[in-house]
Amino acid sequence: MPSDEGRDARARLFEWRGRAPGRVNLIGEHVDYLGGVVLPAAVDRYTEVTGHAAEEWSVESDVPGGLAYVRAVGEELASRPQAVKVTSDVPPAAGISSSAALLVAVAVGVRPDLPGRDAALACQRAEQHATGVQVGVMDQFASALGRRGHALLLDCATLAYKAVPFPGELAIAVIDSGEHRSLAETPYNERRREAEAGEPKRRRHVDSEIARVHAFVDALEGRDFERLGTLLKESHQSLRDDFEVSTPNVDALVEKAWAAPGCYGARIMGAGFGGSILALVERDRRSDFAESMGRGVLFCSTADGAYVTSK
Ligand code: GLA
Repeated sequence: MPSDEGRDARARLFEWRGRAPGRVNLIGEHVDYLGGVVLPAAVDRYTEVTGHAAEEWSVESDVPGGLAYVRAVGEELASRPQAVKVTSDVPPAAGISSSAALLVAVAVGVRPDLPGRDAALACQRAEQHATGVQVGVMDQFASALGRRGHALLLDCATLAYKAVPFPGELAIAVIDSGEHRSLAETPYNERRREAEAGEPKRRRHVDSEIARVHAFVDALEGRDFERLGTLLKESHQSLRDDFEVSTPNVDALVEKAWAAPGCYGARIMGAGFGGSILALVERDRRSDFAESMGRGVLFCSTADGAYVTSK
């Protein structure tokens, strides 16, 4: 029988690696935690982690605050403590879910054998524990199981999903409003409770947004880009007026994008209360669009999720 010390020493030598992408959400906002359908995509910005067993959990990263997430996902996966190093080109607090990328990167590093769905659920629970925010499963699911060249149509009630081809002529643009917030400081949980309680305005957003997700998929399939843009605009108006998760600053940025060259449509993306906007832009007019926005535009492409192995 090897001694405990011998086993520990060997575990410390074994270094694991994980890598997971950020995500955008094309449409289907604030409906995941109500069992609605959403249409996110993993994108080509990644968080990479390496780790080895250690006395206690630790994180080395340029971005502060990762320890609570890493420990929470490790505990969800019944992992012993690990010393984890993080490198990432997913900008933090910029709306493409750096937290989901970190969680899923650790999950795939520690438990590459898990089905992607189970990993996504473990990461969702970890985020809820680490932050106290009752997030849905969309971000973690997209980071785990997104498909290059596709968006994921995900039914959050059953976790059934389908990869929907994303047209190459469209560029995905993410623009940071500069208004940053940690979700725990926002009324996210309050909105969730109001929607669950059936408060009429909140419900009107949820029902209309779910209808827009289906219409959006039809328009993608029919390559009706103008219609995609109209649906993004309607989604923004609903998030602004009915779900009340936008801010005047974000509204101004969205309106600027609506008027910019090459833009089919734009809306607030993610939890809201600041954060980033998403715009769909004619691929060939990216530089006109960026110039007219007059601030940093992050163009990204769809990517494979961490648990997608058919590369
Ligand atoms: C955050 C949460 C998601 C989802 C969105 C809003 O990104 O992590 O689960 O609820 O907000 O659609």
